[in-house]
Amino acid sequence: MKVTIFGTGYVGLVTGTCLAEMGNHVVCVDVDAGKVDRLKAGDIPIYEPGLEPMVVRNHGDGRLDFTTDAVPAVGHGEVVFIAVGTPPDEDGSADLQYVLAVAKTIGDNIDRYTVVVNKSTVPVGTADRVRGAVSARLQARGVEIPFDVVSNPEFLKEGDAVEDCMRPDRIIVGASSPKAIAVLRKLYAPFNRNHDRMVVMDERSAELTKYAANAMLATKISFMNEIANIAEHVGADVELVRQGIGADPRIGYHFIYPGAGYGGSCFPKDVQALARTAHAVGYDARLLDAVEAVNNSQKSRLFALLSRHFGGELKGRTIALWGLAFKPNTDDMREASSRRLMEQLWEAGARVRAFDPEAADETRRIYGERDDLRLVDRPYEAIDGADALMIVTEWKAFRAPDFARVKSLLTIPVIFDGRNLYDPATVEEAGIAYYGIGRGRSL
Ligand code: UGA
Repeated sequence: MKVTIFGTGYVGLVTGTCLAEMGNHVVCVDVDAGKVDRLKAGDIPIYEPGLEPMVVRNHGDGRLDFTTDAVPAVGHGEVVFIAVGTPPDEDGSADLQYVLAVAKTIGDNIDRYTVVVNKSTVPVGTADRVRGAVSARLQARGVEIPFDVVSNPEFLKEGDAVEDCMRPDRIIVGASSPKAIAVLRKLYAPFNRNHDRMVVMDERSAELTKYAANAMLATKISFMNEIANIAEHVGADVELVRQGIGADPRIGYHFIYPGAGYGGSCFPKDVQALARTAHAVGYDARLLDAVEAVNNSQKSRLFALLSRHFGGELKGRTIALWGLAFKPNTDDMREASSRRLMEQLWEAGARVRAFDPEAADETRRIYGERDDLRLVDRPYEAIDGADALMIVTEWKAFRAPDFARVKSLLTIPVIFDGRNLYDPATVEEAGIAYYGIGRGRSL
């Protein structure tokens, strides 16, 4: 099939590439000419395992193209995806200006029946607004061209995006038109493997499904962070509690890892946006507000532990950070816990020496050159002569360090394990003081 995708961010680029991989002819449109040139040259602006070879191969085979030229691109697609950003407005609600601008472009340029698919995470009711924006342009043109708007939210995880896209656990299609549903059934047939993964519903329910899924996962994390904080006060180990509750299949082991707080481009933004939507319609979303508040204080947890350990004396100290990205297998620093931590350390007069396998460039881009930040190429270089080691992102490379070496390199051997990667007893036996999240003895 012929597909057009507006937006070459995570969602747009991965979706476009996977659809091309399945044999469709995909044109991806972006307003950023530099990005389009880079993509054409096989230079992928994000770090996402497996994506680059797929982009290069499909582009080389002529099934995947990139352009800034929206007009012919709209003409190309039987299905036109909107996968542009919805950044938070000042009050936390999603800003729809880019989505609606694409809707206008579509209305200005379609010349035959087109299925407009919204893949961006958008507030409930956006499908109606997109429909309105397309209709208004058709009316202005004085033409009557049939089209449908479908809400088809994306559930891919950064770091596993290609896998999630190629093997989705569900495909949510919010549509009221049988014709549009049939088009999407055909498009997604190759992703439906041995059983039908498509769940068809109305547009509003599909839009809410996306927010509900992310809010549920964020709630699990904040819940577990709260249990961790209680565990610290009562002298229990949250890691044992985690295993104890995860064994109940109704609770499950996923997304109950306490830590330094959730980050990324989705959870913080989506929990906030859903809470704003609820408040806007007169519903007081107390649980969502609490999920956000718990996460906000959790992001300061590592700094609080460190500051207490050093009796508030952090001025002039060098603190080593292992991990900067908001989670492993990505270079994404959006809402990463490391940012709050670094900013608190700088505020207290400490210097940061950090190692991250992928996010150093992104960190440099955000913070620029500064005397109190050194980004190093190897994990042990970060701790050489530092006063403490803090684990912020759970990259695999940090799981089994040489503790004797860590001890010999740190001036004051102490680890603040923001992701509970280590067994406290093993670290302490190596002669290193240990603090984790919710591990009793940290008080
Ligand atoms: C999230 C969802 O998991 C995807 O299903 C969704 O499609 C995506 O948002 C989106 O809306 O686009 P992502 O933001 O890539 O995906 O990252 P996650 O793997 O969900 O991690 C989010 C944050 O939660 C990370 O900072 C991670 O460290 C933290 N986390 C995760 C915990 O602190 N504890 C856990 O047990 C799990």
